[in-house]
Amino acid sequence: MKSRPRPDRRNPIWLRCYRGVHCRERVQSRQNSMLSATDSPASDVVNDQTMPFPSDGLCFSYRVPIALLGRAVAPTHLRVARVKDSLSELSECQVAALGQLLPTLLCGEESAFHVFWREGHRISNVQISRSEALANQIALEELEHEYLLQGLRGCCPVPNDVASILLRARRFFLRMASRDPAVHFARVAALDSAVCIVLSTLVKPLSRATALIEIFNRIRSDETRHVRFSRRHSYELGADTSLLADTAAHIRDELVALLYPLGNSFEALGIDADHLFRRVNMQKVA
Ligand SMILES: [Fe+2]
Ligand SMILES: [Fe+2]
Repeated sequence: MKSRPRPDRRNPIWLRCYRGVHCRERVQSRQNSMLSATDSPASDVVNDQTMPFPSDGLCFSYRVPIALLGRAVAPTHLRVARVKDSLSELSECQVAALGQLLPTLLCGEESAFHVFWREGHRISNVQISRSEALANQIALEELEHEYLLQGLRGCCPVPNDVASILLRARRFFLRMASRDPAVHFARVAALDSAVCIVLSTLVKPLSRATALIEIFNRIRSDETRHVRFSRRHSYELGADTSLLADTAAHIRDELVALLYPLGNSFEALGIDADHLFRRVNMQKVA
């Protein structure tokens, strides 16, 4: 794939390592139901605050809101040189396995950004102001996660089957959306909670790769808060305990189905994939 540098204004630290993803010239219309103008009264507001060019989204392209542009900065200590040093601690097989797993994780961050950014605007109209501020803060964190994983992905080989990986991931995240925000946020809570398990499992075999550990721990720590917000928000929007429990069981099944074809990549990293999938499936809802 022919690559070209991304605009330098957003996150220059990562750009030196960036490859495999290129800027898209066309301004894509919102691609999924989560961004559909037809059911989003706030979408015009969002659009008024966007950059004139789209992001480099793998699954979900979007225009980066100006309001977040200068604020979303990946930690400066996680420089490319450190990431490369860390990757050099891993075997070639492990780095290739990371390259297989990262596109799916990255799609999740892109999708999460959409969900929280849009929810922040939606609830500003219904005046749940505390939740609005938190949703906007989480959107910013999702953007930072995206930058972190983009940078890491740029240092790993692109898998041969990346197109099919992205297609499956995109379909999965589109299925996450619901017109009922209480259901949608119950799903987000369940997914983020399961992702915390995956991330905590990932850090164990990568312990020598300290920069990678910092990236995954940073994301996991944020996601733990996102779970709390999403559960509370779902209740706030009318969900009850049984809805959250049923939703969680369904989402865990779906996530395992999404990750199952990537089982060999987990194994290549030194993770028992069956054990991981069992842990995700058996996860209790607090
Ligand atoms: Fe995230
Ligand atoms: Fe999140």
